Amino acid sequence: MSFSILYNNAQIATMTSDKPYGLIENGAVVISAGLIQWVGPEKELPVEFNGLPEKDLDGRLLTPALIDCHTHLVYGGSRATEFELRLKGASYEEISRSGGGILSTVTATRTATEEELFSQSLPRFDALLAEGVGTVEIKSGYGLDLETEIKMLRVARKLGSERNVRVKTSFLGAHAIPPEFKGKADAYIDFVCEDVLPLVHEEKLADTVDGFCENIAFSTKQISRVFDKASALGLPVKLHAEQLSNLGGAALAANYGALSADHLEYLDEAGVQAMAKSGTVAVVLPGAFYTLRETQFPPLNSLRKAGVPLAIATDCNPGSSPLTSILLCMNMACTLFRMTPEEALSGVTRVAAQALGIGHEVGTIEIGKKAEFAVWNVDQPAELAYRIGYNPLAEMLVGHGALG
Ligand code: NIG
Ligand code: FE
Repeated sequence: MSFSILYNNAQIATMTSDKPYGLIENGAVVISAGLIQWVGPEKELPVEFNGLPEKDLDGRLLTPALIDCHTHLVYGGSRATEFELRLKGASYEEISRSGGGILSTVTATRTATEEELFSQSLPRFDALLAEGVGTVEIKSGYGLDLETEIKMLRVARKLGSERNVRVKTSFLGAHAIPPEFKGKADAYIDFVCEDVLPLVHEEKLADTVDGFCENIAFSTKQISRVFDKASALGLPVKLHAEQLSNLGGAALAANYGALSADHLEYLDEAGVQAMAKSGTVAVVLPGAFYTLRETQFPPLNSLRKAGVPLAIATDCNPGSSPLTSILLCMNMACTLFRMTPEEALSGVTRVAAQALGIGHEVGTIEIGKKAEFAVWNVDQPAELAYRIGYNPLAEMLVGHGALG
């Protein structure tokens, strides 16, 4: 018989969308075989669950385990020197055009052994987990050659298995043009589509395919070639779009039925409408907005009005967002983007799950979903986004079953 347990005396933010936070006061959850069997007010607990082993949560807040749906946390080296250059007046774009930026991380990532890459990335991964994260998306894209892209994705999978936490990987070969293809972007896209992606797929190393559509990266035409290949292999797509300028990347992604389009500061109304039509999630990344001191806001009101689901993520990377705190990310989403604390929490639970194509499994506390919870020492859910630099996590309750 499978192991069952009753968590009771909890304030439960189910994050189902019927009322604010889907909140249940004096709630209880029944878990069996790693899945949620029942959730509701304690006084409505069906008699069949009487007598189960119980864990009293002392009135604490129970939420779904948090989800960071956009990170580049596997990388070699650091870009602190670039940070200093930016403080002396250089822009992100200038640094990138002069061979720094993403390409300096490519050099450091190529040089690192798989073990070094793992040990450099583990503390960043652990920092996220320490704040209630139970699922992390990790991208490749600092290899830009077959060997290093595969090395990054292996490290990403290994981080998940080492900590027994769900990792979803994205192949981001179309992140930048590597030095050996300088001036030959189309030839690099051929290489990505013909030589790298098929092997990455064969090794089952990528759950989705991502790209960077930008003047300093790839055009919509080049990205569509990558997406055609991904679709032919049956892989879902997502895109870094409209971060520094408006190239129509989000609309392109939407036309491919993308799970998400991310960044979106320069998104226009046509892009919003295309995303609404295809159900593509908007992932906004306040850490990058903050680090780059961007002044153009993602069009949140238009996105809300059109009914586009909103997620937020750390974008943890060495250049534009050296952020390993999902709680600070939630606070930034509220303070910088004027999102509500409820939107911030749904953006790292229900909607983040949707952005990864795993909304049927995790992201809310509902019957049939996986039992993956964070327990918090707070009086109300808004406190999670309200604090700055404080971690009220009491414990994680995950599982009784393998994470997949
Ligand atoms: O999401 N926009 C492109 N890629 C990353 C930045 C990567 C880097 O600067 O290393 C991002 O912001
Ligand atoms: Fe990113």
